[in-house]
Amino acid sequence: MTQGITYNNRVGEALDSVLAGIDHTRLVVIADENTAQLVVPRLGSTALAQAPVITIAAGEENKNLDTLAQVWRQLGELGATRNSMVVNVGGGMVTDLGGFAAATFKRGMGFINCPTSLLAAVDASVGGKTGIDFNGLKNEVGVFAMPRHTIISSCFLDTLSTPEIKAGYAEMLKHAMLHSHELFTQLLHADFDAAFNTLEFLKLIEQSVAIKQHFVEQDPHDNGARHALNLGHTVAHAFESLALKRGKPIHHGYAVAWGLVAETYLSHKLFSFPSADLYALATFVLSNYRAFHITCDDYDDLIAFMTHDKKSRNGEINCALLSICGQVHCDATISPNHMKEALDIYRDLMHI
Ligand code: GLY
Repeated sequence: MTQGITYNNRVGEALDSVLAGIDHTRLVVIADENTAQLVVPRLGSTALAQAPVITIAAGEENKNLDTLAQVWRQLGELGATRNSMVVNVGGGMVTDLGGFAAATFKRGMGFINCPTSLLAAVDASVGGKTGIDFNGLKNEVGVFAMPRHTIISSCFLDTLSTPEIKAGYAEMLKHAMLHSHELFTQLLHADFDAAFNTLEFLKLIEQSVAIKQHFVEQDPHDNGARHALNLGHTVAHAFESLALKRGKPIHHGYAVAWGLVAETYLSHKLFSFPSADLYALATFVLSNYRAFHITCDDYDDLIAFMTHDKKSRNGEINCALLSICGQVHCDATISPNHMKEALDIYRDLMHI
């Protein structure tokens, strides 16, 4: 099923027009405590004006079974049926959990995503991955369920902090590397201190999401071609898991930025990825993303996380690597020694 996406900074109008074309009885909004207060009243949607809002606690630590049960309960109390429509307004935590709640309530209601963070706009709100964290593991329980529509805008970016923008930008950088050298080098010119032109940025987001869509449409259930989107994520998820174990979670996007550097080093080593591009990427990430601190005593833990990752097969470390920008090798097996070498390079950069 191809997902409908609208790119429009007049989100309320876009939402009303999408809803007019979808058969549904009642609407229920799911938002977190921030977006319920700051974004939902600002949307300007006529259709949503009278819709009840289920407000959940903000933050990845609340993307759990308790919050999900609370949403299911409220959907029941509101009399939601299979023909009702959920509208998720928020970042990836809201679109992941809200999408999962909708996809499972009464065996599946439709839902529309209105992402408000850059990370959600370019990744979480598109492609049908929904779920919650469980048992200390990220996205451990979930289903593939395509949103009926996603409305992407850049008008909420002014509510985000620079680290939140940078976090989403790391996924855009990943998409650019999967696409072409031209887009990769274009994105390396970002100046996060300068004011954004929201319309130009919306075009950049659209280009980025189209790259993700290209892989999702080939392989919606993530059995092959979609693995390309794992670029940078084997190392990123291991960093995030180690950070969680230490009780100090790190931002996914920051882990992705450094994961891209480590895995681009592996791309260079195993598939002759050009060293000049590796250098350009490392320089960009080094000057914009705070590194996560590790020592060689952490290597065994990190390798263990990588071999137990959803992406691993037969207990081996698996990465998506590149020979050049735009040419991906989806399921490269990485030996622990090669991974340790990449982590050595990361630690050298971390100390600069
Ligand atoms: N975030 C990667 C994917 O949707 O497959």
